[in-house]
Amino acid sequence: MNTTLIIGAQWGDEGKGKIVDLLCKDFDIVVRYQGGANAGHTIVCNGKKIVLHLIPSGILHKNVKCVIGNGVVIDPLALQTEIEMLKQHEIDVTGRLLISKNAHIILPYHIALDKASEANYSKEESIGTTGRGIGPVYMDKIGRMGIKVLDILNKENLTSKIRKNVIYYNKILKHIYNLEELNVDEIVANSVNACQNILPYISETTYFINEEINAGKKIMLEGAQGALLDVDFGTYPYVTSSNPTSGGACTGSSIPPNQINRIVGITKSYCTRVGNGPFPTEQINEVGAVLSKRGNEFGSTTGRPRRCGWLDLVALKYSIMINGITDIALTKLDVLDEFDEINIATNYIINGKQTSQFSLNDINNSNFDVEYIKMSGWKCSIEGISNYNDLPDKVKEYIEFIENYTKTNVSIISTSPDRNSTIIR
Ligand code: IMP
Repeated sequence: MNTTLIIGAQWGDEGKGKIVDLLCKDFDIVVRYQGGANAGHTIVCNGKKIVLHLIPSGILHKNVKCVIGNGVVIDPLALQTEIEMLKQHEIDVTGRLLISKNAHIILPYHIALDKASEANYSKEESIGTTGRGIGPVYMDKIGRMGIKVLDILNKENLTSKIRKNVIYYNKILKHIYNLEELNVDEIVANSVNACQNILPYISETTYFINEEINAGKKIMLEGAQGALLDVDFGTYPYVTSSNPTSGGACTGSSIPPNQINRIVGITKSYCTRVGNGPFPTEQINEVGAVLSKRGNEFGSTTGRPRRCGWLDLVALKYSIMINGITDIALTKLDVLDEFDEINIATNYIINGKQTSQFSLNDINNSNFDVEYIKMSGWKCSIEGISNYNDLPDKVKEYIEFIENYTKTNVSIISTSPDRNSTIIR
């Protein structure tokens, strides 16, 4: 078995892009399995920053083939923009980008409904989506009225399916949200046109991936978002509409569970979350401000400031359990360099009772508190360190505490955004 799954163990933005980019030189194929252009995977390579939203991060390595799996939802305009951006960096996707026939397509009416539904909530109730049409396109998929990539192969069929859906969405926009209807002819014509961008990449990825596995090729699965944003296991309803967890990796790629032998959980050395919803260790104070500034915590898709807080081991252990994480990649450790004292959440206190279980009902409880252990900070720069032995003892203590609590090895440590600033243990 040669398949590795890279998964976000928190609320997304854990630095998956860098780790996928770092590891994938040893892989033949990288597969994205869920989400869409709501993701933002930032890679810094030779001082150049590249942000990918839809195309797997493996695309930066010219020997790697990249698959957009059946579980992904594709905005054809976002895809085109990304292909153009890569061309400007002299990266050609031709022959290396394969898009599953079974992936679903995001069209302007999904984006209109995403925005309308968010605007209809009060500020506290809104989910804080990225506004990329993710919820509505997955509603169509589950509701069996979605447009699939394979529909693009028959233009007449595609046109009539899109027309039918625009008319349906117009009823919702007008009668439920009291908004102006979309211009049917214009949306249909533009959408059919935009879908042609996907044509050159349409592939039969299910057989391709499985035949490559049987031929001994090394496959990497690249998750987007994070386990705590999973529609089943996350902080529902403040979640995304897909399954970033390891089960979703199988259904969204066609790789059977027994073919995956390594599941790397990417976790920041602290926590962040964009959008609304429970965040037990959030620090709305000077600590949060320092994490935000040192970690440059702004969403790479929307530019929104990320909420920041201490590392939450209750949440991380839950994430390790539901995903079957075999080892941890700990990112942005250098962000903690300046703190006199560092806190780590080890228990929650609900109605005066201590628990180490992550349960959404409990987190929403008004008598909710977090128990932290305090460690003294290392107060020196570890930026760029790439050898474990060169880390100060206090940093090693921090890492070992995480390992002991979670009973999981920290196998990769990232000490700056650059590819080379990485410790592999
Ligand atoms: P949606 O995926 O756009 O529907 O947004 C649902 C929730 O997931 C919101 O809280 C978003 O901020 C969050 N979200 C979606 N994609 C990402 C991501 O790539 N990183 C972090 N949060 C995300």
